[in-house]
Amino acid sequence: MSAKLQAVRGMNDVLPEEAELWQGFERTVEAWLARWGYRPMRMPLVEHTALFRRAIGEATDIVEKEMYSWRDELNDEELTLRPEGTASCVRAAIEHSLIYDGPKRLWYGGPMYRHERPQKGRYRQFHQYGAEALGFAGPDVDAELIVMCARLWPELGLSGIRLELNNIGSAEERARHRGDLIRHLEANEARLDAEARRRMRTNPLRVLDSKHPLVQEVVASAPPLKGYLGEASRAHFGGVTKLLDAAGVAYAFNPRLVRGLDYYNLTVFEWVSDALGAQGTVCGGGRYDGLFAQLGGKPAPGAGFAMGCERLVALLKDSNRRPSPLRPDAYVLLQGEGTLAYAFALADELRAAGHAVVQHAGGGSFKSQMKKADGSGAWLALIVGEDELGKGEVAVKLLRRNDPQLRIPRDQVVQGFAGLLQKARS
Ligand code: HAM
Repeated sequence: MSAKLQAVRGMNDVLPEEAELWQGFERTVEAWLARWGYRPMRMPLVEHTALFRRAIGEATDIVEKEMYSWRDELNDEELTLRPEGTASCVRAAIEHSLIYDGPKRLWYGGPMYRHERPQKGRYRQFHQYGAEALGFAGPDVDAELIVMCARLWPELGLSGIRLELNNIGSAEERARHRGDLIRHLEANEARLDAEARRRMRTNPLRVLDSKHPLVQEVVASAPPLKGYLGEASRAHFGGVTKLLDAAGVAYAFNPRLVRGLDYYNLTVFEWVSDALGAQGTVCGGGRYDGLFAQLGGKPAPGAGFAMGCERLVALLKDSNRRPSPLRPDAYVLLQGEGTLAYAFALADELRAAGHAVVQHAGGGSFKSQMKKADGSGAWLALIVGEDELGKGEVAVKLLRRNDPQLRIPRDQVVQGFAGLLQKARS
């Protein structure tokens, strides 16, 4: 007896009907990225573990407990399935000197892996589209990254996605704030839960994120980071919000927004939908001016975001803009001696001319084949029996209309197909 084989928990199959929805989503997103001047990048799914440790930070949830890491005995290397794309993208930019001749706008898409507790909107294999603007220092690019998202949501047919924004300043400003924050948390240690106590010294900013009511009370009286931000940080952020205002993009300033990755500075943002329950963040990002240097490259600024495809596709599913499933132009029915090669060649020629054609397989009566043709959603049935074969013709049925069946010469099918299709769809 063998155990039933199933997909790994938290890693999902996407079945055809939903996959078509994904394809529509991907087409829209990729065309939108191109329109904003972002060029595609493809990075490996597997990287050296050290990359993520250094980029994302040792004290983050991702590095502490969510990475799929293993030792590759064949090469004696520590490897990890990528939990996100920014680290790989910057690693690749350094490795290939991508910004030696000026800044670059890049995008990538594909699966990411985090060993989180699976729930609605949170998976162990999930997909992101990420955009990274490498080498740009000014607030204009932060605003560009945000405004481009604001323009995407309505293009996808989505509404109700709101923007949260924070300014987390420079590393030095955060270090000063962090010292005072730790002192404040220590003074109130008795009211903290175990998680907050553990985080207090390793990653005190994450304590601000706690949902625990008592911890929230302690957090409410903590010194706000805002008070530690110098002129340059405030000016940068002011530059971002000014451009958002000019573009008519509404935002809520959220001083608690700290993000789960350590590489950020200055602008951080999240796009959130209330229609998804607890996992409502559909896109997150910000500036990461220290990352190039941290990964051993020449210091260079960077900013970007990544959106969660599963969450956006879930919203699309519920929206009334769901695209209709793809349907073939024609379904080819065949029966009788010698008709298979005849039908094969016919379907082949039509496909070469750019039409979507499904050829019946598996035999059966014309009646049962006609049922399959109808069920396939095709517009036209092309019927090839011994009689048609003998006369060098093809019978045509307009499946969505009541017109009588037609007979046309075989050598006119390809030429006349567009006309037939137009009639079938009318
Ligand atoms: P992140 O916030 O970790 O940022 O992930 C971005 C988005 O990916 C989230 O907002 C969410 O929509 C989706 N996501 C994350 N984890 C899961 C999961 N377990 N299941 C389903 N969806 C998930 C980053 O990854 C940064 N690299 C973003 C960035 C790019 N910052 C600068 N450039």
